[in-house]
Amino acid sequence: MTRGAGRALSYILLLVPALLAAQPLQAPQPSPGLMPNAARGKALYDRNCASCHGAALQGTEQGPPFLNRIYEPSHHGDVAFQLAVRNGVRAHHWKFGDMKPVPGLSADEVAHIVAYVRSRQRLAGIR
Ligand code: HEC
Repeated sequence: MTRGAGRALSYILLLVPALLAAQPLQAPQPSPGLMPNAARGKALYDRNCASCHGAALQGTEQGPPFLNRIYEPSHHGDVAFQLAVRNGVRAHHWKFGDMKPVPGLSADEVAHIVAYVRSRQRLAGIR
């Protein structure tokens, strides 16, 4: 390897942890080692999200369905859920208007909700 290439590589190796470390500043992080539980997530979802996203995740007049390719994990990763709950969402995919932040949910509780949503998406063939 040339000296220049070696130096470029070491810069990249220095950058990666910095980029990974920047993430927790932006999105709430579930506790290390948490085992997200879809059954707990369902109860939390029913109480906090179903009024807009639908009891069967099919959407309502106030919010979009999660059983939609738009929300597959590669397009809206788990972090998108943490951010949506904490900060709300500016309307951008649909015409329902903005989503307000949902107060009173911990990052762990949101992780349970995500586990529930993902399990239902998998059943619907959205993965
Ligand atoms: C009062 C209605 C309402 C409630 C309650 C609500 N949402 Fe939303 N949510 C919306 C609307 C409307 C959008 C669509 C915004 C758009 O993209 O146009 C949305 C979008 C989202 C998105 C997509 C974010 C993105 O980056 O595009 C996620 C994730 C989400 N909601 C999660 C949740 C979760 C989890 C809960 C329960 C804790 C919840 N929402 C409760 C109305 C709601």
